[in-house]
Amino acid sequence: MHSYSLIAPAKINLYLEIIGDRPDGYHELVMILQSIDLADRIELYPNGTQKIRVHCHHPQVPLDQSNLAYRAAQLMREEFPDTFANLGGVEITIDKRIPVAAGLAGGSADAAAVLVGINQMWQLGLTQPELQTLAAKLGSDVPFCISGGTAIATGRGEQLDPIDDLENLWVVLAKYRSLSVSTAWAYQTYKQQFSNSYISDAKNVQSRTVQVHSGPLVSAIIHKDGALIGKLLHNDLEKVVLPEFPQVAKLREAFERAGGLGTLLSGSGPTIFALCESQGQAEEIKGQVRGAIADPDLEFWLARLASTGIQVASSAKH
Ligand code: C5P
Repeated sequence: MHSYSLIAPAKINLYLEIIGDRPDGYHELVMILQSIDLADRIELYPNGTQKIRVHCHHPQVPLDQSNLAYRAAQLMREEFPDTFANLGGVEITIDKRIPVAAGLAGGSADAAAVLVGINQMWQLGLTQPELQTLAAKLGSDVPFCISGGTAIATGRGEQLDPIDDLENLWVVLAKYRSLSVSTAWAYQTYKQQFSNSYISDAKNVQSRTVQVHSGPLVSAIIHKDGALIGKLLHNDLEKVVLPEFPQVAKLREAFERAGGLGTLLSGSGPTIFALCESQGQAEEIKGQVRGAIADPDLEFWLARLASTGIQVASSAKH
């Protein structure tokens, strides 16, 4: 058997619209998701025992079943019990570079890498769509994290339509180290405040989805019009996250003043990003925001938009 080293990129939302709620308790969404080259590294080693173990030095990353990467291995064990019994368990080592609980799908990316890696390790031969069907059982963002790039995501976020890649743009991201936002809280609060605007019948949900597919942001992405993409960035969750966390609202304002193509909260936050036409512009904006908010708790990252999801970086005979 082989061990594997995988690259698991973070995602940002260029667009997030909450259309309505669903009988399964989730929300009906239309999103445009984008991979960035800020990525975790995942090592998978066959351990020849009947155990799954997670290793990670980051203090906020749990090592037990509450870790989505652990649950991904557990899911493969449940789906392929004979293979697990024959080949044994796996050691999962996470080199955490994506900020935790940040709205960047870091946990989902790690889980996606475990699915892709175990598929190879156990030589299961699952196709990408088959892996994505399994991934949807773990979380709404996990299917996207497998394929990555630029995609329209509908349903809970698990139904994906890839669109042209946007590789030449950059982002500068910032997050208060000590601040995290619960995704479940953000959606629940949104529902309490805005459910009167929800579309309830399936036909209208479908037609709103089609409108976004043929709408101006998708067209701007296809034409690689960075300036227009920046103007059309949108995230409905800003309506609940920004009032609740005034320091995030101030951070967003500082980003807007600094320029760039556009600024947005990513997912349920609290990461704010500015879309930039170059690495130089991203550096410049980082400098300006750092100058405007001199708080040592505020961390920054620069990343390029990426066209790939999970990548196997290397494998070695074990
Ligand atoms: O799917 P995932 O576990 O990542 O979602 C986290 C939480 O976000 C869910 O428990 C749910 O409260 C909320 N959510 C939602 N509708 C979606 C996706 C997530 O309400 N489409």
